[in-house]
Amino acid sequence: MKRLQDFSFQDKRVLLRCDLNVPLDEKGNSTDDFRITEAVPTIAYLLSHGAKVILMSHLGDPGGKRVESLALGKVQEKLFAYLDYSQAKAKGKILLLENLRFHKEEEENGKKFAKALSKLGDIYINDAFSVSHRNHASVAGIAEFLPSAIGLLFEKELACLERFRSNPQRPFLAIVGGKKAENKLSFVKAISEIADSVLLGNLLSQEYASSLTNPFSSFKNPLKVVLPLDGGFDIGPKTLTLFTRHVQEAKSIFWTGPLGQVEKEEYAKGSLAIAKAIGKSKAFSVAGGGDLVGFLRSHHVEDKFSYLSTAGGAALAFLAGEKLPGLEALGYYGN
Ligand code: 3PG
Repeated sequence: MKRLQDFSFQDKRVLLRCDLNVPLDEKGNSTDDFRITEAVPTIAYLLSHGAKVILMSHLGDPGGKRVESLALGKVQEKLFAYLDYSQAKAKGKILLLENLRFHKEEEENGKKFAKALSKLGDIYINDAFSVSHRNHASVAGIAEFLPSAIGLLFEKELACLERFRSNPQRPFLAIVGGKKAENKLSFVKAISEIADSVLLGNLLSQEYASSLTNPFSSFKNPLKVVLPLDGGFDIGPKTLTLFTRHVQEAKSIFWTGPLGQVEKEEYAKGSLAIAKAIGKSKAFSVAGGGDLVGFLRSHHVEDKFSYLSTAGGAALAFLAGEKLPGLEALGYYGN
């Protein structure tokens, strides 16, 4: 798998896949710019090495058609402000394509679409580790048509998560909350085989409980999965005591997905208390995913984590040992 240092970018057109899929409020404004600021170092590197940068991203899930509230205009304004827009624009060195998921071929990984995208550049750089679990045109398909490499953020994310897969300090604790519960369960199962315990949020624990009534359910280590004892839209006090004990004992911690409906302040207490407990611990601690990182940052409890990752679903899939299409396309697993 190649890296930025393996290329000369002078006068090259670089197609750069970023993950600018930021959390949005009802008015379509970004509520947290972490993914935008994390995209900046690679863009700055490419510009300073003489490249023209053609940026690509998705935003939300428009379902293959144009949805005005998911247009990338507002995100672009913010990104260019972080990049010192006036300079970059004056030299005509950077542009951002509109939300790729306005085209259904993006999620279908249409070959013609990937090829058409590839014509816009001389080199393809993927800096969107957090989307590498998606078999989409801009993540996987395009690498077939251009010399390809990973960007600085991708490299950083991968190195951090590899620590959990190769030789995690034990006890290794995983905490999995948030939405998209049905998709996460198979990952929880695989992670329960490498972690020492896995704490689940309420939504996921309901999903888990129903999976155990399924005769095909095959969790090898069900005792490692720790379910909430109380609560509903947030974890309750008994759960908090139990979960805090696990946090205090852990030597490495991976957390993705808030443990309640934290958009509402009254249901944010449990996640906040867990974040503070992790803040006090000396464990190697990683929080991942747009929603959780946004929540931690808005409550100013992020700085004691060892690492904040832009990746939620992709990180889970990676830790679960899945082959990620975005990594496979770039030769991570060998040819
Ligand atoms: C994420 O938010 O995890 C990534 O941007 C991928 O988004 P998706 O779950 O809509 O594919």
